[in-house]
Amino acid sequence: MVPEGSSGNRGVGGSPPAAPAPGEMAGVVAQIRRTVRIHSTRFEHAIPLIASENLLSPYAKELLISDFHSRYAEGLPGDRYYEGNEQVDQVENLCLDLARRLFRCTFADVRPTSGTVANLAVLKALTEPGELVGTSRLADGAHISSAAFGAFGLRGVKPVYYAWDPERMTIDVPRTREILRAVRPKLCLFGLSLFLFPLPVDELRGTLEEIGARAWYDAAHVLGLIAGGEFQDPLREGCVVMSASTHKTLPGPQHGILLGDGLEPEVAKRLQSGAFPGVTSNHHLNAMAALAVSLAEHLEFGREYAHQTVANARALAQALHDKGFDVLAPDLGFTRSHTIAVRVEKEGGGESVAKRLADSGIISNKNLLPGDKSPKHPGGVRLGTPEVTRVGMKEKEMAEIAELFDDLLHRGTAPGEVAAHAAQLKSGFTTLRYCFGAGEAAYRYYDLVGREPG
Ligand SMILES: Cc1ncc(COP(=O)(O)O)c(C=O)c1O
Repeated sequence: MVPEGSSGNRGVGGSPPAAPAPGEMAGVVAQIRRTVRIHSTRFEHAIPLIASENLLSPYAKELLISDFHSRYAEGLPGDRYYEGNEQVDQVENLCLDLARRLFRCTFADVRPTSGTVANLAVLKALTEPGELVGTSRLADGAHISSAAFGAFGLRGVKPVYYAWDPERMTIDVPRTREILRAVRPKLCLFGLSLFLFPLPVDELRGTLEEIGARAWYDAAHVLGLIAGGEFQDPLREGCVVMSASTHKTLPGPQHGILLGDGLEPEVAKRLQSGAFPGVTSNHHLNAMAALAVSLAEHLEFGREYAHQTVANARALAQALHDKGFDVLAPDLGFTRSHTIAVRVEKEGGGESVAKRLADSGIISNKNLLPGDKSPKHPGGVRLGTPEVTRVGMKEKEMAEIAELFDDLLHRGTAPGEVAAHAAQLKSGFTTLRYCFGAGEAAYRYYDLVGREPG
């Protein structure tokens, strides 16, 4: 058996593990359950500040373990390759209508199984290998989808990089206009993983029209903010398609989505066939049903949730700035999204700070920031407020979180002591908000069987 607490060998090398002894596997299942329970309890006591994570509502969670999990439904509602899909079709039609209602648009496809898969579907639909596609650099906050070693490389398209304004943490419009006019890509991707401010899609629209390029927006991080009216609205700014994950600021299941408004029928068809059969076979019907619930909940509670998420990010940034932390873009109010970026070189660098925070019950990630000398030594940490907002924290708690950062990173308080304070703060915020079934435990481990296996 793998020793408890071991992270193993990452699935590579050594000799093949021994065949199981009689009865051993029941113990392994118990070990897996125990480990996931420990994880759940750990997060219940922690302050999770990963900008790309969120918590699922109880009604959405329930659908993840429904019989939809066991089924296949290739194709579109009413035009499937398998029988038995009538209820799946009904739920998928609802999901598509809810998506179009939430994003005020005419086209939705809920078959991509993640944000990366949605991006691959767009690349399959709207590019040919060898073409040029406009995007931001990874060092400026872009996702690995647009890297040669990611989805761009897989499709064989080549990036044309926009110019970046590190002071304003957004695309430099005049210099980017020049680049686009000189290189003339046919597709331009807008969207980031370190996404502090809206991108100048509207400002670049004339240039894109002039060179005959389509605009594509990757809303993985900001989908829930867009839906809640708290961020730019890319489909109203000329983007042909918006791709996204559905589990970051939109607090849905891990899945993906494509959205468009007033698409030419030929483009809509290409996007649909990009999703299936292009990059999926089955599309995880349990997650699709959970997404339908999350979309309905966001129509009901999304505005309030998105507003508080951004207010919390700005409050956390201000409180950290007041404690002497180097939070990016102070002259612009630090952020207009759920995310803030903090340069932590004087506190020991991104890697060391993220680890020390985790040892103190504060979960974040190290992040490359513009101007970093080496991708191996990120100078910052990225902090996000989707999850702490979901459990009901507001501006007052953001100030308390900043206090914990100050204690650990400036005053030298021991991680154990900071972790105890973090757990004390979190103890008042362990139930879900902004959803039906609000007040349910956010980190509950659902024990379906009630006894250990074997
Ligand atoms: C901008 C952006 N696009 C796409 C993705 C990929 O999403 P997923 O993890 O759902 O594949 C991410 C993930 O964080 C992202 O930040």
